[in-house]
Amino acid sequence: MTSDADPAMKSFVHHNKGRTPRQAHVDLGDLKDDELGRQGFSGRTAQLYRRNDPTTFTAKGDLRIREAKLLDLAAPEFQDPRAHPMVLLENEDCRVAWSRRVEPTPYYFRCADGDIAYFVHMGNGVLETEFGPLEYEAGDYLVVPKAVTHRIVPGGESAFLRIETTGELEVPDYGQLGRHAPFDPTLIGVPEPAVLENAEGSEWEVVIQHDGGYSSIVYDFHPCDVDGWKGDLFPFRFNIRDWNVIMSDTLHLPPTVHQFLGAPGVLVLHFLPRPAEGREGAERVPSYHRNADYDEVAFYHGGSFLGYPLPKGLLAHSPQGLHHGAPQAARDFARANHTEVSRIDWQIIAIDTERPLRPTTEFRETAAARERARKEKAARK
Ligand SMILES: [Fe+2]
Repeated sequence: MTSDADPAMKSFVHHNKGRTPRQAHVDLGDLKDDELGRQGFSGRTAQLYRRNDPTTFTAKGDLRIREAKLLDLAAPEFQDPRAHPMVLLENEDCRVAWSRRVEPTPYYFRCADGDIAYFVHMGNGVLETEFGPLEYEAGDYLVVPKAVTHRIVPGGESAFLRIETTGELEVPDYGQLGRHAPFDPTLIGVPEPAVLENAEGSEWEVVIQHDGGYSSIVYDFHPCDVDGWKGDLFPFRFNIRDWNVIMSDTLHLPPTVHQFLGAPGVLVLHFLPRPAEGREGAERVPSYHRNADYDEVAFYHGGSFLGYPLPKGLLAHSPQGLHHGAPQAARDFARANHTEVSRIDWQIIAIDTERPLRPTTEFRETAAARERARKEKAARK
């Protein structure tokens, strides 16, 4: 479903060499299934059947998988309502940031650098926009197009994963899935106009993010003064509970079938609760893999996997070219408990980027502390 995939690079000339299963991802026996995929696994692919777990390497240089529990990070917006979200990862196409606040900003905000999708991890409140308000709750995406004036008014503590894209965020064409899958478009929440000019005050500041920095403009009227609007450009809300997961009973499908949004160089996908693959022998745990052309970011919103709770609020960055995947024990467990485990109840928000993402100091330091703690714990055992 990626729009920029080059069809010339796909082929049905596939080879089978050496010892392989009859069908990819099914009836692996003792084989360890390692996927090397182009174009985020929607392009050319190779399965390598190894003798060892390729994720069990020791990283010596800067290239490494980094994980941080975002609720452990300092929350500057608690102390200073003017503070901006904390950027964790960035490249020329995308910024991934974390925002956690109780108070609204004392200003309105406009991003001239790109579109924003806020994923609500925690809390509820109102996204005020010049198009009108949108109430939000956990599990919502709030998609705000470039240059739209808005601000978040939390109804208590709220936390957001903030995805900013230089290019336009769009819903992909789901092609032959029809008009009501993977979601019914009428379940998109769209604001009704609501003029806020009776709000107290005599001047209203709008902070504009441009070229990575911030400037202010000041109005002597409320910026949310729109009596009506029409068009096909507007902020909107979508909750993950309204997503209909596309799946196969007999085969674990690639991540690109779960794409919700895309911008040039950036895919936003989500892995949501669904029945486990029913056919005995079909793998339920994604292969060990290298995503050759995309960095992967996974944010664990909640849920469980194979009956174990996921680390809520964890953000993991897996750079392109590095192996990752669940450990062998999870694969063995899934196979041994085929009958007992009938659902995959994960809630994971994923951001895949074509250009490598640069971790910021805040993310590096928090991830390094987590890695140190894990090594110390392992050494004590
Ligand atoms: Fe991955």
